[in-house]
Amino acid sequence: MILKGTVIWTPELGRVEVREGAYLVADGETVRGVFDELPADCVGQPVADYGDALVIPAFTDAHVHAPQFLNAGIGMDEELLPWLNHHTFPLEARFADPAFADRAYRAFLNALWEAGTLRFCAFATVHAEATWHLMRLAEDAGFSGLVGKVNMDRNAPDELREDTVASLAQTEMLAQRSREELRRIGFIATPRFVPACTPELMEGLGRLVETYQLPVQSHVDENRSEVALVRELHPDAPSYAHVYDAFGLMPARRTVLAHAIWLTGPEVDLLREKHVLVAHSPQSNANLTSGIMPLRRWLDAGIACAVASDVAGGSDVALSRHVACAVRTSKLRQVACAEERAASVPEALYLATKAPGGFAGFSQPSGSFEPGYRCDALVIGDERTAELDALLARTPLERLEHFIYTGDDRAIRARYAGGTLMPRPF
Ligand code: GUN
Ligand code: FE
Repeated sequence: MILKGTVIWTPELGRVEVREGAYLVADGETVRGVFDELPADCVGQPVADYGDALVIPAFTDAHVHAPQFLNAGIGMDEELLPWLNHHTFPLEARFADPAFADRAYRAFLNALWEAGTLRFCAFATVHAEATWHLMRLAEDAGFSGLVGKVNMDRNAPDELREDTVASLAQTEMLAQRSREELRRIGFIATPRFVPACTPELMEGLGRLVETYQLPVQSHVDENRSEVALVRELHPDAPSYAHVYDAFGLMPARRTVLAHAIWLTGPEVDLLREKHVLVAHSPQSNANLTSGIMPLRRWLDAGIACAVASDVAGGSDVALSRHVACAVRTSKLRQVACAEERAASVPEALYLATKAPGGFAGFSQPSGSFEPGYRCDALVIGDERTAELDALLARTPLERLEHFIYTGDDRAIRARYAGGTLMPRPF
């Protein structure tokens, strides 16, 4: 694959590379590099020439609830725990019906594709059959990523509360089956959160994580009522995050924890030592009145962070919206505390591309155009604003910022997954 355009990527937090009239070359699924002149062995090969359109890495959503896509923008006047009970759990219970799940998951994957999110770490529901169906659909459509069957055997409605032994058996079955049958979509252990998992379930999951070297995703320190509930359930644990660690559910470099707003000092140390990827979902945190995560403080403390949608806590699928929201909320933190320097647009873009795309739970990194990365790319060129862009002589970085703040799927001209043009899934 050879793409020509204005190639932009963020090799590290706060650094952005812009190469105009450059060639992005992939060998098979993998980036070879970005070149100003076509490499000798590429001369004569077909080039997809996009003129001065922007070519950027595709987005990776480090934390999204696939079934909840149907509830995006519903029930936003409640806090986390009542929202789960009144809106989320009733919807997730419907995924016991495979026909319903099929319709919902096709719609979800179409929406991700439209938004340019070609890789993700997704929660499904407790239902093994529907979870497997999502994995299969995503693999066949050309996405890469991780999907987890949710585990929950306490503090859940009857329709979703699992038998502990059965929950573990189905989790193991999916871990094995995905390894045998899928290449780009992997399985990720998904204890919903501490309040929904008994110690027996967490212990069993910890054993599976060890046996199969699984990655893990869950939630931590999202909402004050939730944190208080964890303290009641585990009065002897040093903190919320330490509960996961005590059960073997925080494998180093293979763990994604969403939210992390109310971390205590020892939790900051634990997450840094374990190289946990914190999925920061500022839009969800505002929608559910959870709080504002101190992004700069966690970054300065050495915690790896990514910007994620948390749909349907977040109401937009498009990560561009969450990138802009992360910048905004970081500014609100800066207003409250000058030391918490706001995040810039290039910093937030890194948090939605290379930071999550490089999560070691994925088999190959994505989200950058460095050699060896999976070549997942978006071509951004908004025909509706092209005339104004030219009139104002907007720079590539201005056009990128304009897309992040105001653009939508109409501005995404093409999507490449693993070096090939990716058609709409369904
Ligand atoms: N904590 C436990 N489950 C959920 C969920 O579905 N969404 C969010 N935002 N937080 C959770
Ligand atoms: Fe979530």
